[in-house]
Amino acid sequence: MPFRTIIEPFRIKVVEPIRMTTPEERERILQRAHYNLFLVRSDDVLIDLLTDSGTAAMSAAQWAGVMHGDESYAGSRSFYFFESVVREIFGFKHVIPVHQGRAAERILFSLVCKPGSIIPNNTHFDTTRANIEYLGGQAIDLPCTESQDTQTPHPFKGNMDVDALERLIREVGATRIPLVMLTVTNNSGGGQPVSMANIRAVSQICRQHNIPLYLDTCRFAENAYLIKMREPGYQHKSVREIVREMFSYADGCTMSAKKDGLANIGGFLCTNDDQLAQQEKELLILTEGFPTYGGLAGRDLEAMAIGLQEVLDEHYLEYRLASVRYLGEHIAREGVPIVQPPGGHAIYIDAGLMLPQIPPLQYPGQALVVELYREGGIRSTEIGSVMFGKFDPDTGQEIPARKELVRLAIPRRVYTQSHVDYVVEAILNVHSRREQLRGYRIVWQTPFLRHFSCHFEPI
Ligand code: F0G
Repeated sequence: MPFRTIIEPFRIKVVEPIRMTTPEERERILQRAHYNLFLVRSDDVLIDLLTDSGTAAMSAAQWAGVMHGDESYAGSRSFYFFESVVREIFGFKHVIPVHQGRAAERILFSLVCKPGSIIPNNTHFDTTRANIEYLGGQAIDLPCTESQDTQTPHPFKGNMDVDALERLIREVGATRIPLVMLTVTNNSGGGQPVSMANIRAVSQICRQHNIPLYLDTCRFAENAYLIKMREPGYQHKSVREIVREMFSYADGCTMSAKKDGLANIGGFLCTNDDQLAQQEKELLILTEGFPTYGGLAGRDLEAMAIGLQEVLDEHYLEYRLASVRYLGEHIAREGVPIVQPPGGHAIYIDAGLMLPQIPPLQYPGQALVVELYREGGIRSTEIGSVMFGKFDPDTGQEIPARKELVRLAIPRRVYTQSHVDYVVEAILNVHSRREQLRGYRIVWQTPFLRHFSCHFEPI
């Protein structure tokens, strides 16, 4: 009989103390930070679910790799090790290291994206969109229709709408589309996976029109394990085989190793195109560094290479997805509306549904983020009208986002089940007094990316 209890498949060798604050302290901290959790010091946070990026706990093997790193400027042994691991897992010919995902995006799009270019994606991550728009291109999201309703479960809400892709290509012409992208898992769409069938279908359309397909690869292992769990025909395949198949349909990828690379910094850019790779390396030298270190230290390349192998351990992935699901199921059972089903790296609470008394432009997501900190020192992020609200250029009126979500992103290998139990308890406490929560108004903001720095006041 298999055990019902899925355990953390590691034991803890190094610990990092976290500090409990008193309710009075938290009230003062919130006021000092103008109710913006990006302005709170991490020492004042008990459980930090702001992001799963760069926050993983490295293994003993990774730390040993750090000592082993070769810091040579050119021809570093650590680079050749890293390159062989990436080639073996993903199967691409050229592997270009960069300091994080957005550096890969900047280099790639600087070469392929021109004013007027159109780049479709299931859902662009903020930095991907920003890099495209900065170059005068248009970033278009084509999420599948099942993703619109947060409450109805569907196994692959990260899928791209393939009919919409075909329509778009017919409308604008393939020559305006330098590449199509698929983000696995779809972070902005709720951490939801993309199915193998969808990757294959998108790839077929791209090949018909001679458009390269790129994967935004940050959470590739979680996506592969969700394919194994949810897609018929993949139960008996290994995650490595599933990953190899996923990437066999693509012409290249961008990667932030701060997620499924289990590293605190790093990323890479891959392609099979010799000429493009040459141009990418020239740009790399300009701003990141020589192609055998790409803006990283040799030790970082070692940590990434080892992390990329560890993340494919199926005991790890089983535990990883079980712990995210555990959080989601325990709060959903008590009536907290979450994006269903739980995805790979985070649970998203639908704050618009949970707090219907707070109108979108009084930021229900922000109200929940503040209350979770007030209740238990937990830090989460608003993904709603604070982050994605826009201003009508003619009237100056603020237009709310489509959804008011709060993301609880789970750092990899960092928190134990009792930490998650504590988070569940805090969320349920807030949920039981949800009718008392009130909205916020923004009293100071910057014109771009306001969520990082704006100041709020309770209404
Ligand atoms: N693509 C996706 C899907 C991401 O989630 C991120 C980062 C990036 C690209 C950019 O990578 O940060 O290494 O430059 N996501 C983080 C998050 C920041 O919190 O979701 P980066």
